Amino acid sequence: MTDLPTSAPTVLVTGGAGFIGSHTCVELLEHGYEVVVVDDHRNSSPEALRRVEKIAGRALAASYRIDVRDRGALEEVFTGHRFDAVIHFAALKSVRESMEIPFEYYDVNVGALLALLGAMRDHQVAKLVFSSSCSVYGETQADAPLDESQPPRPTNPYARTKWMCEQILTDLTGAWPELACYALRYFNPAGAHPSGLLGEDPNGVPSNVMPYAMQVAVGRREKLAVFGGDYATPDGTAIRDYIHVVDVADGHRVALTRLGVAGTDCGEPAPAEPAEPVGPGMHVLNLGTGVGTSVLELVHGIEQASGRPVRHEIVERRAGDVTRLVASPAAAERAWGWRTRRDVADMCQDAWRFQEAHPDGYGHG
Ligand code: NAD
Ligand code: WQD
Repeated sequence: MTDLPTSAPTVLVTGGAGFIGSHTCVELLEHGYEVVVVDDHRNSSPEALRRVEKIAGRALAASYRIDVRDRGALEEVFTGHRFDAVIHFAALKSVRESMEIPFEYYDVNVGALLALLGAMRDHQVAKLVFSSSCSVYGETQADAPLDESQPPRPTNPYARTKWMCEQILTDLTGAWPELACYALRYFNPAGAHPSGLLGEDPNGVPSNVMPYAMQVAVGRREKLAVFGGDYATPDGTAIRDYIHVVDVADGHRVALTRLGVAGTDCGEPAPAEPAEPVGPGMHVLNLGTGVGTSVLELVHGIEQASGRPVRHEIVERRAGDVTRLVASPAAAERAWGWRTRRDVADMCQDAWRFQEAHPDGYGHG
C-alpha cells in the first residue's frame, strides 16, 4: 500500500461498501483521494471494502460501521476527519420494497440525508454529490431520450424519496450560499469491476434484471421472467439505458473535480477543454449512455459473454414499468466534456467475470 502526501483531498463516502459505492471508492483511491467510508452493511459486505483496497493497492483512510441517521456517531466521524467533500450513496433502493415498507424508505432515504446535511453544516463541509435516479422522471410519454428539463413525476415511494431529497438540496442551496451540490440521476447501473473482484451482490432475490439474469446463467436460479413481451419496441420487450458501474464511478470523480475537489489524473489524457469548477448551488445531471437496450438484447449479451444459455420466459408486464427509459447524456457532455466509455457487451463480460468467480456473492467467493 502506498502513502500519499497529507494534502490529498479527503472524501466521505456513505454507502461506500455497496454496489456503486465500492466501485467509486476504487476510482477515488486510484486518483489520489483519501477516502473515508461509512456504511452499516445492511445491504453489503465488509469484504467489498477489502477488495476495494486490494484493487486500488491503497488503504481507505478509515471505515465506520454506522447508520448514517445516527447523528452522534456521524458527529464523531466528522470530528475525526476534515472532509473536502461528501458522496452520499447510502439509501434503500428497491422500487417494489418501497411500496411494501414506505415508512422505512422515507426514514432511511430522507432521514440519512438530513442527518448528513446537519453534520456537513456543523463542520462547514459544503460540497456534496448525491445519488439520484432516473426513477424521478416516472411516467413519461417521451420516446426521445430524457433530459434534465423533463418535469419529475415519480410514481412510487422510492422515487419520491429521491425527488424529495433533490428538493431539500435545492432549498438548502438557496439558504446556504457556499453549498455546492451535484444530484446525479443514474439510469440503470450494471456490470462490475473488470478485475472480477468487485461486483453486484444483492441480498436475497435480485429485483434488477442484470443480477437476476446473471444468477440464472451461473445456475443459481432456474429462469428469468421477462416482464412483458408486448411493448411497442422492435422485439416487444422494454428498453432501458444500462450504464457500466465503472462509468458511474468515473462520473463521481469528475463531479468532485468540477466541485473543485480534484484528485490526480493518473496519467490520463487531459480533457479537450480544461475543467471549469462549478459554483455553489444545485446542479442536476443524468448519468446515462443515450443507448437503449431491450431485455431480450440484454439476455443475448449475457449469453454471449457467459457462453451459457439464460433460460427465460415472457410473462405479464410488471406493474409500474414503462416502455422505454433512455437518458440524454448531452448535459453531462456539455458541462464536463464527458461521455461513458463502456457498452452493454463490456457490462455483460465484466459482470460475468465476477459472477462466475463468485456464484454465491462475496460470502463464499
Ligand atoms: P447498494 O444497496 O448496493 O448500496 C447502498 C449502501 O448503503 C449499502 O452498502 C448499504 O449497506 C448502505 N446503507 C443503506 N442505508 C444505510 C444507512 N442508513 N446507514 C449506513 N449505510 C447504509 O445500492 P447501490 O446500487 O450501490 O446504490 C447506491 C445509491 O445509488 C443509492 O442511493 C441508490 O438509490 C442510488 N441508485 C442506484 C441505482 C441502481 O440501479 N443500482 C440507480 C439509481 C440510483
Ligand atoms: C429493467 C428492465 C423490467 C427484472 C430500477 C429503478 C431505477 C433504478 C434502476 C434505482 C425492465 C425488466 C426486470 C426481471 C425483467 N434504480 N425485468 N425481469 O425497473 O428499469 O429501474 O432500477 O434508482 O430507479 O426503477 O430496472 O433492472 O428492475 O428492470 O424482465 O426479473 O428489465 O421489466 O424492463 P428498472 P430493472
